[in-house]
Amino acid sequence: MDCLEGMKQLEDNSIDLILTDPPYNIGKDFENEDLPKEEYLIWCEKWINECIRVLDVGGAFYITLGWQCVAEIKVIFNKFQDIRLKNWIIWYRQDGWKGDNGFAHSHEHILYFIKDGVPIFDLIDFGKHIKEKRLEAGYKTISVLMEKMGCYKKVKRSNGTEDYFSGAGWFESGKKQPSVSELIRLKELLDLDKKYQVESYFKKKEIDPKKFNVFFNKTDVCDDVWLTPKSEHKRLGHPTQKPEALFRRIIKVSSNEGNLVLDPFMGSGTTAFACKSLKRNFIGFEINKKFTDIIYKRMAQEVLI
Ligand SMILES: C[S@@+](CC[C@H](N)C(=O)[O-])C[C@H]1O[C@@H](n2cnc3c(N)ncnc32)[C@H](O)[C@@H]1O
Repeated sequence: MDCLEGMKQLEDNSIDLILTDPPYNIGKDFENEDLPKEEYLIWCEKWINECIRVLDVGGAFYITLGWQCVAEIKVIFNKFQDIRLKNWIIWYRQDGWKGDNGFAHSHEHILYFIKDGVPIFDLIDFGKHIKEKRLEAGYKTISVLMEKMGCYKKVKRSNGTEDYFSGAGWFESGKKQPSVSELIRLKELLDLDKKYQVESYFKKKEIDPKKFNVFFNKTDVCDDVWLTPKSEHKRLGHPTQKPEALFRRIIKVSSNEGNLVLDPFMGSGTTAFACKSLKRNFIGFEINKKFTDIIYKRMAQEVLI
């Protein structure tokens, strides 16, 4: 089914996580892969708009892209106010193809957004306010507060080494816009002024605070350059099949068991299969019958992990 048709049937704010690998418009053998660039970007804006509508407040949206159009697609996202780029991840696939006598193209981009509508503060005032409230609450240093917030912990870098992740000092420096999840944690620990509370969260008490993706599991890979996994070698008959390990990582860090995940461009069903093994619920669309046959066969398999 065409995802634009399919997503029309979904309610606003009904999806916890979107993970998708759309056509990159580089001439592969499937729909929407060989359009004039303008037409391709207009089409992208339509489905991005639908994705943002159906994504719940606090939910994450990951999109894989090639170097050919990533910049233009990022510019489309700039038009939407309630979505914010959290990381621009480089996935080093390690099997680059060398065209045009240049360097081998061996990486892809993963844009990671969250829908959180963070208010924009005067950061200098915000920093002063946090310092005052921190001292009032008895946290002698910003590091103690950050540790309490869970912002100081051991993490693994993608080259295998371990390091401490720490954001100590960010808030009081007047240089960093807090994320919605940081505001929620700060509010739990300090008596924050009303203007620093997050309406999108506090007006909708039923929202799961775990969705606000800062305190997600950083202990797998904390960097935004991913050296693993390599490209998928166990092919199922789709020309651009993504490695299951790549999608499992994303699903694990940005959703919980029982959450609802959407992939509008299923291909061979990598997102769906990863969701099945991680006990997430799933909705997806795929326009091409040849690939839906692969998906049904794949989903009938037992998960091994
Ligand atoms: C890059 S592939 C996804 C590959 C997938 N991640 C995997 O691991 O197999 C994009 C898929 O989107 C499908 N597609 C293209 N236009 C579509 C549309 N309007 N609605 C739904 N699916 C579409 C294509 O048929 C293709 O299978």
